[in-house]
Amino acid sequence: MRLVLLGGPGAGKGTQATALAQHWHIVHISTGDLFRYHRDHGTELGVLANQYMTQGQLVPDELTEKMVEDRIGQSDVAVQGGFVLDGFPRTVPQGQALSAILASQHQHLDAVLYIFVPEEILEERLVGRRVCPKCQANYHVTFHSPRVADTCDTCGAALIQREDDRPLTVQTRLRVYQEQTSPLIAFYEKVGLLRTVDGNQPPERVTRALVAAAGKVADD
Ligand code: AP5
Repeated sequence: MRLVLLGGPGAGKGTQATALAQHWHIVHISTGDLFRYHRDHGTELGVLANQYMTQGQLVPDELTEKMVEDRIGQSDVAVQGGFVLDGFPRTVPQGQALSAILASQHQHLDAVLYIFVPEEILEERLVGRRVCPKCQANYHVTFHSPRVADTCDTCGAALIQREDDRPLTVQTRLRVYQEQTSPLIAFYEKVGLLRTVDGNQPPERVTRALVAAAGKVADD
């Protein structure tokens, strides 16, 4: 199973990619998480990527494509027989690069799942999101609050707000999404891979809709 999750910032790609990876026992590949890993480990790529991320801008295509090609080529992807891509592709050139990477491995995408959420709800989700810097668990001040305020349920660390979840940066991310990422909807619709799901419903219902949309409900 080789899937792409498409959707605006805060549409629930990370939440749903985790659920879909568990459902199909495939590898969850998040370009945002990979960049944050590099940033936290002080690599050259991480330092460079962070300059774009904190501004709400996209990291240049060539850096992102190379990182994804390397990740898709790792052995866990072959062993587990697939992946769910979360946050990649994010531009039409990245979509073309992904096709070329997969073609070179005699592979193809099974579906592109587009999680649609209205823009005003995306903004509310991002500004209210809190994350655990230690185990990466995700919370929301209203929709998914931790049992003890500002404390991770799983590991007890103090929760933080992502720097790019501050209101002004969120505005930039939403604009960048409209300008650079939303053209991928037409790109994948044209080749018959796009499946659209309503992301403005409880997370478990979104997961069920995505599983059904990927056409694998019969496997349950
Ligand atoms: P990335 O980390 O990928 O950020 P994003 O796409 O903006 O996505 P988010 O992680 O903010 O949101 P999400 O859709 O995963 O939603 P989530 O499940 O967390 O990328 C960060 C940066 O890295 C980019 O800005 C860019 O600079 C760089 N980058 C990454 N990929 C790149 C690429 N390919 N090319 C170039 N640059 C790249 O949910 C959000 C919130 O909503 C949470 O609080 C959650 O609890 C809540 N929530 C989720 N689902 C629901 C629901 N159904 N109902 C209510 N609340 C919900």
